[in-house]
Amino acid sequence: MPRRLVTPLLLLVAGLASAAEDGKLLYEQNCKACHLPDQMIVGPSLIEITKLYARRPKDFLAWAKQPQRKRTGVIEMPSMAHLGDAALLAIRDHMAQASKGLKEQKPNPADPFLRPARRPEVRRIFLPDAGPAAIAVALPGDLAYAFDAGECRVRSVWRGGFLDDWAYYKGNGKARVVLAGKVIWRTGPEASPPPVKFLGYAVDAAGLPTFEYVRDGATFRETVTADGNRLVRRFAVETTGPVELRLDPATTASAGLRVGDVLRLTPAEAKAFTLTVRLP
Ligand code: HEC
Repeated sequence: MPRRLVTPLLLLVAGLASAAEDGKLLYEQNCKACHLPDQMIVGPSLIEITKLYARRPKDFLAWAKQPQRKRTGVIEMPSMAHLGDAALLAIRDHMAQASKGLKEQKPNPADPFLRPARRPEVRRIFLPDAGPAAIAVALPGDLAYAFDAGECRVRSVWRGGFLDDWAYYKGNGKARVVLAGKVIWRTGPEASPPPVKFLGYAVDAAGLPTFEYVRDGATFRETVTADGNRLVRRFAVETTGPVELRLDPATTASAGLRVGDVLRLTPAEAKAFTLTVRLP
């Protein structure tokens, strides 16, 4: 008599255990290479995945079968459609189990998958100190700068890494990006900013951008490069009248007449000149 009662219970327990095991095994075979429980490696952590899809199994399936391009600086996730819905849902359960109670760890910045060392690199992004319409550029070497498309000028230069995507990932795309280096040069506010209009930028074969904008009626093309401890800003300006630029003490000009901190260029001089910023 007791046997009859016990057997179905044991079978039930065994059945649950094997389903859980499947999810673990399937995860290890198919996902673990790119997803760790508590740390972003190639792809986001199981903590993050569980947070995103805790109440959305259908969306989880949709992603796993047809992954999208969502984050910057990561590879594309391959489709897992071949595993089928049942296996993917077992994996989802395991992901939730395996990440329960864990705390997200900072990703290892040396992880080559996380941040392909691509320089130059251009990113449109929210930046501290540069308004909402900023464009960040990583130059070959260890310098990067922010161009403010709202004010049409370079705002800051930093040395070290490019952008710390960590804050961005954690905020699921809503947080501001943090510079992954030390700011070594910054332009102050302009006393009486002239009217400007951002026209866009073109990227050369190497990936280096040239910004194009109208400033006080003159059409500027500006390309920024790094030369050791100097930032070289190369300009080509089309203008019918003279051009005036305010320079800080760290900046020298290849042409024009400088009186105090104001550089004055004739239309002929403005056609091709450079401003060189000596960096600390
Ligand atoms: C070869 C690496 C790789 C493998 C293997 C892999 N993934 Fe991913 N996965 C990624 C990357 C990279 C991303 C981030 C893609 C992006 O944001 O553009 C990602 C993101 C995700 C996300 C988050 C989607 C979102 O909305 O942000 C889920 C869910 C996910 N993977 C599930 C899985 C599952 C389930 C498996 C195994 C069956 C798996 N992945 C295997 C690389 C991988």
